[in-house]
Amino acid sequence: MNDNQTTAAPVEGHALVPASGDGQVLPASLAAGPDTFEDPGLPPHIHRAADIDPAAAKRAERQVATMFGISMLGALIFVVAYFAIRDEATFFLPGVGKTSTQNVVLGLSLGVSILFIGLGAVHWAKTLMSDEEVVEERHAQASSPEARAGAVTVVSDGVESTGLTRRPVLKYSLGGALGLFALPLGLQIAGSLGPVTVGELKETLWDPENNGGKPIRLMRDPEMTPIKLADVTNGSVFHVMPETLQHSIDERKHVLEGKAKAAVILIRLDPNDIKVQKARDWGVDGVVAYSKICTHVGCAVGLYEQQTHHLLCPCHQSTFDLTEDCKVIFGPAKRALPQLKITVDDEGYLVAPEGFAEAVGPSFWERKR
Ligand code: FES
Repeated sequence: MNDNQTTAAPVEGHALVPASGDGQVLPASLAAGPDTFEDPGLPPHIHRAADIDPAAAKRAERQVATMFGISMLGALIFVVAYFAIRDEATFFLPGVGKTSTQNVVLGLSLGVSILFIGLGAVHWAKTLMSDEEVVEERHAQASSPEARAGAVTVVSDGVESTGLTRRPVLKYSLGGALGLFALPLGLQIAGSLGPVTVGELKETLWDPENNGGKPIRLMRDPEMTPIKLADVTNGSVFHVMPETLQHSIDERKHVLEGKAKAAVILIRLDPNDIKVQKARDWGVDGVVAYSKICTHVGCAVGLYEQQTHHLLCPCHQSTFDLTEDCKVIFGPAKRALPQLKITVDDEGYLVAPEGFAEAVGPSFWERKR
């Protein structure tokens, strides 16, 4: 043997044979090729103490029974505590403070009961239940060539029996019927996602034609009471609906749809904090109203940070700056919240003289990329 030759120790069950060329030595089963690969089988089974020693088995049995016994005890303590400890009984728990005694005892006893059922079951399975290795032979993956040929024949006979190959008129008319049948479906889908929806989002209950052409009062949601300018103090927030929603409620028509599109948030800022002239002009003395529907995917923008004048959408954290006409300063929304123009009527109530100037809600159809 020269210095470049390598040797290998025999593997159990495999005779070693020299390989050709480089002098390497391979097990006989591998050297013979993949078709004659031998199943190495399972390693020898190692018996557990409880399998071969009756005393160990008895000990394991007692351990499992003890765990189940502790579980029973926990359940009994739960029942007793449920009736015996008064609801108002408390004690001081370090790090937590005043704590309900009954809650703690019920929680602990139930926890112990469940824990020891689990521990007992696991211990039982690991020490006493059979752990013999089992091998299930896998059936052949592919069907036999005869079975496959039979399946092809059945399909071919089926196609032949329809007469499609012999009757081209039927074949082409069927193809046309199926192709045209897809058209109405496609149109319906395209139509639903297209301009019709945008148009619908531009129409809301704030449009004056829903009120005989008259300005629409801003109402508290859900009380549906009108709001006076004087009610809106600096920093306060109102969730607002149009008074026309009451008509929908009375007529029981499109109430949810109307509410979903018309939701508005009303806030009063110091007018000097509003940096955009249009936003100032569309409000009254610093009171401004914006659509509450996030322009990302339509969640309700309901969180107002009074110090920063930011409106936050809780769904994906889009943040809108009230001082800059609700432009997006953070998050996935691509468009500012639409502002609702408001003014005050003769009785001092806040009203919207016209509807939204743009569509409310998500604006995915306007994206360029
Ligand atoms: S829906 Fe408002 S951030 Fe996504």
